[in-house]
Amino acid sequence: MFGSTTTTLALALFVTTFPAVRGQYTWPDPKYEELESLRWDQIGLGSTFLELGLTGSCTAFVGGSNTGRANAADWIRTAYHDMATHNSEDGTGGLDASIRFPEEQARAENAGDGFLDTFNFLSAASDRFVSYADIIAIGAIIAIESCGGPEIDFRFGRIDATEPNIPGVPEPRQTLDEHIASFRKQGFNQSEMISLIACGHSFGGVQHTAFPDLVPELNDTTNTQSAVHFDTTFTNFDNNVAKEYIAGTTLNPLVVGSNDTTNSDKRIFGSDGNVTMNAFAADENLYANICAALFARMLDTVPSGVVLTDVVTPIPVKPTQVELIHHGDGTLLFNGGSLRLWNVPVNTARAVNASWTDRAGVESPSVVLRHTSGMYPSASIVVNETSAVASFRFVVSDDSSVAAQTFTMPYLVLLSDTSCRLSNTIPSAWNLNVAVRKGTIPSRIYATRLNVLPAPTVEYAEYDIWTVLILSDDDTFNSYGISYELDGKTFEVLTSIVSVASVGLCA
Ligand code: HEM
Repeated sequence: MFGSTTTTLALALFVTTFPAVRGQYTWPDPKYEELESLRWDQIGLGSTFLELGLTGSCTAFVGGSNTGRANAADWIRTAYHDMATHNSEDGTGGLDASIRFPEEQARAENAGDGFLDTFNFLSAASDRFVSYADIIAIGAIIAIESCGGPEIDFRFGRIDATEPNIPGVPEPRQTLDEHIASFRKQGFNQSEMISLIACGHSFGGVQHTAFPDLVPELNDTTNTQSAVHFDTTFTNFDNNVAKEYIAGTTLNPLVVGSNDTTNSDKRIFGSDGNVTMNAFAADENLYANICAALFARMLDTVPSGVVLTDVVTPIPVKPTQVELIHHGDGTLLFNGGSLRLWNVPVNTARAVNASWTDRAGVESPSVVLRHTSGMYPSASIVVNETSAVASFRFVVSDDSSVAAQTFTMPYLVLLSDTSCRLSNTIPSAWNLNVAVRKGTIPSRIYATRLNVLPAPTVEYAEYDIWTVLILSDDDTFNSYGISYELDGKTFEVLTSIVSVASVGLCA
């Protein structure tokens, strides 16, 4: 029986992808690298702040401790409710961050404060490269994977909705037929519906404030939000939700609630004669595998027309935060950033060297890098702007294949450290100066938050300085990416974050 469910799952993957994005990847690709980092740098040096939402613990909750709730559960429920507005017949709705709109959150089908909490936390990781919808998907993946769950395929490319979607999230008091119809509309058949709910309801529970008719106030100082959990391990992914259901020991309020009308899990789990739940209770690996496939499909359910990438896989040898900055004195500062080696065993004897080659092909003496088994901070050098840095590479003592990769350093358009603010107080208007190499004629250079057409201002031997004047900054910490268009393509200047607070006063 389960074999057929697995086959159905495999056949039913319907997301549109464009081919071989991973295969086409070449450094630098700031957008892909940022997404890859959000997806994979989950612990340790270089990790993104998303892991902090779980503060190293799956019991963490933004509302405080002893609440009976967990961020992980909220993040997963948010992803499901955002997706559940999908209508597979007309292609509308899906995972598009429409759940961020107060109008959607105010609907009865979205009872509870978990969506607002989740969005407030996760949205800070969104920027010019990453949509809110991609962040919601990554948040769910991190919650599941960090809390005992299986690895889930992540694709990116979700596009944020500009208005609320049509309602469509299932509610406990609906009938079994209504639930089957609702999941069919979302793109899942009856067996997938049973499985997906059993997977999601491995986490969290029903809280009194959101559903006062379903669960009572508990008056428990260790469960201050009176949440009655779907299983005894509500902060971890495991098959206890099925085991306890089959054993008849479950306290799941959607199974053993006193009002049978709202016992939706009971109706749904039993709707195939408990075949699915029996199989899940008997085999935790089967449960994990089916959940991994269904979670991935849930997250990849997007409005028609949205094209997702291939699955984001770790970049094995990844230079990060490399930048070349133009000084006003005819020199360039090359910041070697860090080298990230993916998933290498700890080897304290490993020696990692970096070297740079200038435009004439002359290689600099190598620099020894030593940090952790995975992250190797590199050094900075000042070079003449004529010779510049054309490429760099790493030599790793226990992996000769790394040295074979040469990373070509873009040097045509650079951040200039003559960038400065026009007044002593900040916020202030400021000049974001960009050095454009002579002979290079971008059709446009712009800071990502404000698009102001620049004009050359100061002449240098090798570079012209173009200024993006940022007239007013109401937020001191507004940061900018710099992009330029050349020969019909858009490029990103490789630089760390630039904000008015990071530049000095103009002379
Ligand atoms: C017929 C379908 C479903 C119904 C009627 C339903 C109903 C509910 C209800 C009433 C709650 C309590 C929310 C609260 O008190 O804040 C809840 C929580 C939750 N649901 Fe569902 N659900 C369904 C499907 C799903 C699916 C498919 C997933 C994910 C794949 C999911 C994930 C969750 C999670 C993680 C929680 C815990 C939230 C928390 O503890 O803060 N649900 N669900």
